[in-house]
Amino acid sequence: MSILESIKSVRNSFRADIDSFPTDPREIESLRTKYFGRKGSLAKLYSTLAELPVSEKPTAGQHINSLKNELQGEFDSKASQSKSDEKGKEELFDLSLPGIPFKCGSVHPLQQTLDEIKSIFKSVGFKATYGPEIEDDYHNFEALNIPKHHPARDMQDTFFVTDNMVLRTHTSNVQIHLMENREPPLRYIVPGRVYRNEAVSYKSYCLFHQIEGLYVDKHVSMADLKGIIDYFVKRFFGENTKMRFRPSYFPFTEPSAEVDIWDKKRGKWMEILGCGMVDPNVFDNVGYDSSVWHGYAFGMGIERMTMLKYGIDDIRLFYQNDVRFLEQF
Ligand code: PHE
Repeated sequence: MSILESIKSVRNSFRADIDSFPTDPREIESLRTKYFGRKGSLAKLYSTLAELPVSEKPTAGQHINSLKNELQGEFDSKASQSKSDEKGKEELFDLSLPGIPFKCGSVHPLQQTLDEIKSIFKSVGFKATYGPEIEDDYHNFEALNIPKHHPARDMQDTFFVTDNMVLRTHTSNVQIHLMENREPPLRYIVPGRVYRNEAVSYKSYCLFHQIEGLYVDKHVSMADLKGIIDYFVKRFFGENTKMRFRPSYFPFTEPSAEVDIWDKKRGKWMEILGCGMVDPNVFDNVGYDSSVWHGYAFGMGIERMTMLKYGIDDIRLFYQNDVRFLEQF
């Protein structure tokens, strides 16, 4: 075989080999050795040079050199191509990469507070019940000892549906429904939405949530009321919470009080609820004998409780559904 024929055959076999270029690094290495190694095809070609007549050596040498460059170039580019392919594959299957986090819903902070308050009162024997949000004047006001034109109506700015129907301004309406429909003794909490026609600001919103409490039995005193509120405050706000009862006025309780807790963050007393002993007039309105039955009632705002517990200073945040706010709970 002449030297030119040998060159041609090496090129052909090289072409065939790199046509299906291996991916396995060891196979790539052995292909490299086959052509470029110490005993490889190119080395063999160089060794045949020695047998040629002196006059043919330079041209033959040039042919082999350019073959070598040609093959080397092709081999290198295939090899680096295969390396980056291999890398791409590795990345595709990297099981240690962290996944893409899914946004996950959560329980609304008001619902969390409601659930917590409910479970505290349930643990001491209260049952939960509900009542209407669209209410007649009688249940929202009149039966609660708030007659028409009584100045106490101004305490709660009212949304009227008709002359005689309102969006309830408090959950106290359900006190009346409960006592109209059941015989004493009673022990209920009543969560629900209430509405007030107030200018919207950081501290008031046109709707909010309350929990009403009503306990009626034969020997219920103000001491029982203080006991239950004290128990509740310590469980909800923490064992070391400072609390005070402050005399107040509600038409449907007598005596009445408001309860404040000491807010360490703000450095002042904050009102958390209204309460008192059920007024005998209210018992008369529902047909309970007020010489036999006594009771206490309380009402608290769920937004307010949540704001105090978590140091939130704008009530409107509860209604904007901004995920950045909600996901903190
Ligand atoms: N209904 C009163 C309010 O909304 C709160 C309250 C409830 C006070 C029960 C006393 C007894 O302000």
